[in-house]
Amino acid sequence: MTNSTPYAERRARLAAELGPHGVAIVPTAPERQRNRDSDFLFRHDSYFYYLTGFTEPNAWLVLEGNGRSTLFCAPKDLEREIWDGYRLGPEAAPEALGVDAAWSVFELDKQVPRLLENRTTVWYNFATHKGLETRVDEWLAVVRGRVRQGAICPQEQRDLCGPLDEMRLIKDAHELDVMRKASSISARAHVRAMQTSARMLREGREVREYHLDAELLHEFRLGGSQYPAYGSIVAAGANACVLHYRADVAPVRDGELVLIDAGCELDSYASDITRTFPANGRFTGPQRALYDLVLASQDAAVAATRAGARFNDPHEATVKVLAQGLLDLKILDAGKVGSAEDVIAQRAYFPFYMHRTSHWLGMDVHDCGSYVEPGEADQTAERRDPLSGELVVNRPSRILRPGMVLTIEPGLYVRPTEDVPEEFWNLGIRIEDDAVVTDGGCELITRGVPVKADEIEALMRG
Ligand code: GLY
Ligand code: MN
Ligand code: MN
Repeated sequence: MTNSTPYAERRARLAAELGPHGVAIVPTAPERQRNRDSDFLFRHDSYFYYLTGFTEPNAWLVLEGNGRSTLFCAPKDLEREIWDGYRLGPEAAPEALGVDAAWSVFELDKQVPRLLENRTTVWYNFATHKGLETRVDEWLAVVRGRVRQGAICPQEQRDLCGPLDEMRLIKDAHELDVMRKASSISARAHVRAMQTSARMLREGREVREYHLDAELLHEFRLGGSQYPAYGSIVAAGANACVLHYRADVAPVRDGELVLIDAGCELDSYASDITRTFPANGRFTGPQRALYDLVLASQDAAVAATRAGARFNDPHEATVKVLAQGLLDLKILDAGKVGSAEDVIAQRAYFPFYMHRTSHWLGMDVHDCGSYVEPGEADQTAERRDPLSGELVVNRPSRILRPGMVLTIEPGLYVRPTEDVPEEFWNLGIRIEDDAVVTDGGCELITRGVPVKADEIEALMRG
């Protein structure tokens, strides 16, 4: 393999950040026991994959500031491979992965201290891998034991998340290509779940949340996705007001809404889509009114998403539309809470909209990357939160740049409350799309599933 793979390019870029006498240690994820002798399905570490493209467990990358890369991986072992599957092995790794050297992972404790010797700085991810700091300490202790033989021990430890998070925040062409594909598969899965719900109800069949979850999974795997990017939320009726609800056994009833928040992972990249639709394919008046309000707030957020804008701008645009809409629908009483500006200033919308509008998206569904503009982190402003009374320290939010990917996911969740018109009780609506920031605006990569109420109804008519 040549230096032109995205992984080799990323290693070279990262090496330049380590300094000539720096060295970085990057483990993949541990295997985790589920119960007795069954493990959870293995998912590699995102940072490790970003730098290697390697998905086997029991692997480590050591990257030196001069660009030299060493991989540690499970050795070939015919008996284990008969039981657990193929292993690449250290002999084949340099050719297959473009690394300069490869060792069996059993050599780790012997080889890593040699790689740390005579370096000034050791980089690893802080607070991401339990026990990593202790491993590094043990390796440094071995180097220190050699100082009388003239070895120099690194004197500085630095958080590798700093440079790696910044790199991962701006997606390269390879990543965007995979993310577009993941989004199309997920969009098809949402379409399938919507159509199945309406069809089963038309046929007089019982529909449960897990039936729709099954449709999602079917379409994910059919599209080549390895697994869902996160636990799918399929929430019928009032369950939609539980933000982290998981697809369960509740009946999907004619006349109620269903909220599905689900996205597949494809080749290590997540997609993250939410649609809310009427189980039978026809919105009632109050459902439609609330739905159109959330959609209008999403439109405003999309319009505010472009290179040069701030990460918080879409959220503020959302809140502005929701605040006015909650007053218009009399969910908030203007006599009590005042104007839309007052609703925003006092955060009176919070009981109905209690999450943020966006998060970064990438290999991890809540992807890494600072939400504060790095060059402005020292510009702090204090304010007292009107609801909690807590002192909050604000820093300038991140300036959006082309290639950043974020979700845009406004919602409204109305629990039964005396002050609120009963027709809105138990409605939970969220609409979520994934946006790639571009110079003039953003590219919504998840619109393979419609979002306008009329289009959803048309799709569900069959
Ligand atoms: N599905 C997780 C989220 O929307 O943030
Ligand atoms: Mn999301
Ligand atoms: Mn989501």
